[in-house]
Amino acid sequence: MNIFLTGGAGYIGSIAARKLLESGHQVTVFDSLVTGYKEAIPEGASFIQGDLGDKKTLQTALGGTQFDAVMHFAAFIEAGESMVKPQKYYQNKLINSTNLIDSTLKAGIKHFVLSSTAAVYQSSDEPLSEESPLGPVNVYGHTKLMIEQVLEFYKEIHGLRYAALRYFNAAGALPDQGEAHQPESHLIPLVLQVPLGKRENIKIFGTDYPTPDGTCIRDYIHISDLVSAHLLALNALDDHDKLIYNLGNGKGYSVREVINTAREVTGHPIPAIETERRSGDSPHLVASSDKIRTELGWEPDIPEIIDIIQSAWSWHQSHPDGYKS
Ligand SMILES: NC(=O)c1ccc[n+]([C@@H]2O[C@H](COP(=O)([O-])OP(=O)(O)OC[C@H]3O[C@@H](n4cnc5c(N)ncnc54)[C@H](O)[C@@H]3O)[C@@H](O)[C@H]2O)c1
Repeated sequence: MNIFLTGGAGYIGSIAARKLLESGHQVTVFDSLVTGYKEAIPEGASFIQGDLGDKKTLQTALGGTQFDAVMHFAAFIEAGESMVKPQKYYQNKLINSTNLIDSTLKAGIKHFVLSSTAAVYQSSDEPLSEESPLGPVNVYGHTKLMIEQVLEFYKEIHGLRYAALRYFNAAGALPDQGEAHQPESHLIPLVLQVPLGKRENIKIFGTDYPTPDGTCIRDYIHISDLVSAHLLALNALDDHDKLIYNLGNGKGYSVREVINTAREVTGHPIPAIETERRSGDSPHLVASSDKIRTELGWEPDIPEIIDIIQSAWSWHQSHPDGYKS
């Protein structure tokens, strides 16, 4: 297939682009490089530098070749920041994605794959299924839910087929491709900055949540497993007009457990400082991924947190400054 892939200079998009190329697909990356790196775009992908907010450039890019599908990874990703600067997120995600969805249709492309998120759900003590109550607690999650709803209406009105993949926390790395967010806001790379000598300690935001050790619990999915699900979903769109799947391991780890595992992997004491809760954090977000396992036969190859953290640690050790090293 010929794929138009937004956000392919970022963490997840660049690894998805690589796996698509390795599976024999053609890939055109569309990315503004606002938070991504040209060096992350895999060899063999075409690259168009452009902003999704620039409708003209986007339509020209989409109309230049006959694409079979759009895979949409480009977005700002900081839930905490979305509660301080909501407009930045509604613009970058809701408005830009609506532009993209409409331009996809105008270019005659009928398949669309969206990077969605666990943040569309209400927090729950139980693993979240696709039927669990929706209820984003931050603007980041709200925008993703609205993009899913736009896709649903485009399916009904125009026959656009879509997959919305609701990621729990993407983590880990390949030996030469990994997480390089600036600033970093994700727990595993932040924790690993301590043994790398880039920060003195790790902050724990909130120790009074209703969880066994008082800290937030999250589900971590290895980047390779996340990307393999995209390839399955892309193929399955030939037979389905709508696919919504959770992507996670089904196991939750508290902030304290992640820090302890990182101590074990790195052999560093990693001092932790306990501080106040942050706005917009759900206490417990863990996936039930039974639906994609049953319907598409997806299985994670790297389900254990220790292996996920080990792969991230190897990447950060060999690339301490991300794609700049
Ligand atoms: N990382 C996670 O754990 C996680 C969890 C749930 C969902 N997601 C979603 O996955 C997607 C990818 O996340 P990531 O971690 O790879 O983020 P990232 O910041 O590494 O990559 C995002 C890419 O999008 C590009 N971009 C942003 N705005 C753009 C615009 N207006 N026009 C063109 N390009 C633009 C950036 O330059 C960057 O290369 C996002 O949609 C995110 O919401 C990520």
